[in-house]
Amino acid sequence: MLYIIDSADPSFIKDMMDKYEILGITTNPTIIAKENKEYIPLLQELDALLTGKDFHVQLVDETYEGMIAEANKLRKIIKTILHIKIPVSDAGFKAIRRLSSYDFSVTATAVCTVNQGIMAAINGAEYLAIYVNRISNSGLDGNAVIKDIKDALLRFNLNTKVVGASYKSVHQVTDSIRNGVDQVTVGKDLFEKLFYSDITEKSIKQFTNDFNDLYSNEEVK
Ligand code: G3P
Repeated sequence: MLYIIDSADPSFIKDMMDKYEILGITTNPTIIAKENKEYIPLLQELDALLTGKDFHVQLVDETYEGMIAEANKLRKIIKTILHIKIPVSDAGFKAIRRLSSYDFSVTATAVCTVNQGIMAAINGAEYLAIYVNRISNSGLDGNAVIKDIKDALLRFNLNTKVVGASYKSVHQVTDSIRNGVDQVTVGKDLFEKLFYSDITEKSIKQFTNDFNDLYSNEEVK
């Protein structure tokens, strides 16, 4: 499967899960803060909603010791499939290595360069979250980074999965899929636009009108 929701909004996530088959959700401290709710009860509410699905939770602490303690705490709270999201900072690389060796599933995040991605994979990360739009906003090509990382992982026999993140347009997501991404995590503003097409809507309208021009409802229902 491919699609993840980049949000911590329980009602939005529930609506989307009613309509679409999704892998799970990703969060980051900004996304969590947007919900303006108590942190642990919010995590527990999302956990209950996501039973059996992926829950990528980003660590807030920026220190190595703090990251280890926070990850152990999250493991006690989260019952569904937990992936600890760790930014590829100086302390982050060390925590990725240690927590992966403790059998935590780690998602290395805020990955913006090929070398960051490859080293995080070598350090044991199971997933890499590549910031497509933020990279592109810096003048580089976020989807080229995805392609280069995918090619390198294949060449070096690293099974780490590449997750495209930080999207601002449907086109960026489509381009990631063209460039071989394994999964994409998409925010509330963009998620449903991925599956919307004016052409589809106009076609449905034309079919319905053409049919209704000849047949009455009684004849159908
Ligand atoms: O967690 C990564 C992603 O949510 C960042 O997205 O839109 O803030 O660049 P954005």
